[in-house]
Amino acid sequence: MSTIIVAGATNQIGHFLLPRLQDHKVIAISRQPRPNTDKISWLQTDLASEVLPIKVSSQLFYSAPLPLLPSLLARLPKTTLLTRVIAFSSTSRFTKKNSTNPKEQIIANQLIQAETALIKECQQRNITWTILRPTLVYGCGLDKNITFIANFIKRFGFFPVIGQGTGLRQPVHADDLAQACIKIALSSNTINKTYNLTGGQTLSYHAMITAIFKSLGKEPRIISIPPLLFTTMIRCITWLPKYSHLSTTMVTRINQDLCFDCTPAQHDFNYQSRKFTDIKLCY
Ligand SMILES: NC(=O)c1ccc[n+]([C@@H]2O[C@H](COP(=O)([O-])OP(=O)(O)OC[C@H]3O[C@@H](n4cnc5c(N)ncnc54)[C@H](OP(=O)(O)O)[C@@H]3O)[C@@H](O)[C@H]2O)c1
Repeated sequence: MSTIIVAGATNQIGHFLLPRLQDHKVIAISRQPRPNTDKISWLQTDLASEVLPIKVSSQLFYSAPLPLLPSLLARLPKTTLLTRVIAFSSTSRFTKKNSTNPKEQIIANQLIQAETALIKECQQRNITWTILRPTLVYGCGLDKNITFIANFIKRFGFFPVIGQGTGLRQPVHADDLAQACIKIALSSNTINKTYNLTGGQTLSYHAMITAIFKSLGKEPRIISIPPLLFTTMIRCITWLPKYSHLSTTMVTRINQDLCFDCTPAQHDFNYQSRKFTDIKLCY
């Protein structure tokens, strides 16, 4: 492989990706200064405004916020040495598109527009692209979902669920996504395609919470909150900055199926992802 530029090198996907790229020349990007190692050169760059310095044939593994990517590519010359982009979007582009929450609709629309613009910029520069859409990423304590739930359980010993928590989930380990990036870069089947990448198990929200309890070595104590009570509680507390991210949309979301098909990824590049109930939470 040519030089690999990793944008999003400090998030959970980058955490697992960098050690797997030991045999390659890697340029890892962060807005913060970081010391170089034998294998990794860190580049302090703001993807929102700076130009990627690409001096040799390179591939970009991109898991930073997708809306920054089209203009980052647009700042490259038309004859760039960047040959390949493997970029993470999100299945939120589907699940939040028709949300009753305007903020969620904006997120979905930004992703949809960014995907379209990314493809256009790549086509203009003769760069091959692959777009990956996971749903619920976990793995090393850097996510805001599974880690939030685990920390809540560790602190309070129980977890509240709206209604019965029947909505289906497919949490995906960040290391499985890191391995997917490498397989994709090595497979010509994946050029100019999009893939929904799910975890290796589909389970209800309630079963997912139960698995987190078990992984923490605790007996599950899941308390069902009636949807109407939860909605009222949310309306009362969201004026506090700490809880401003909560919304009544969560009421419908928790009992909604968020499921996707990863068969094309399995077929094209032998995508494999682990079962959630096998997790060992070590954070
Ligand atoms: N988390 C999930 O459950 C989930 C679900 C579906 C899809 N995804 C997708 O998976 C990818 C990773 O998500 P994530 O939640 O793990 O990470 P994230 O919070 O979306 O990404 C943070 C990363 O982006 C970098 N970054 C952000 N703004 C930057 C800028 N202006 N310049 C340079 N670097 C910048 C950060 O680097 P520094 O802070 O070091 O500068 C950090 O490495 C994203 O594409 C996301 O849309 C995530």
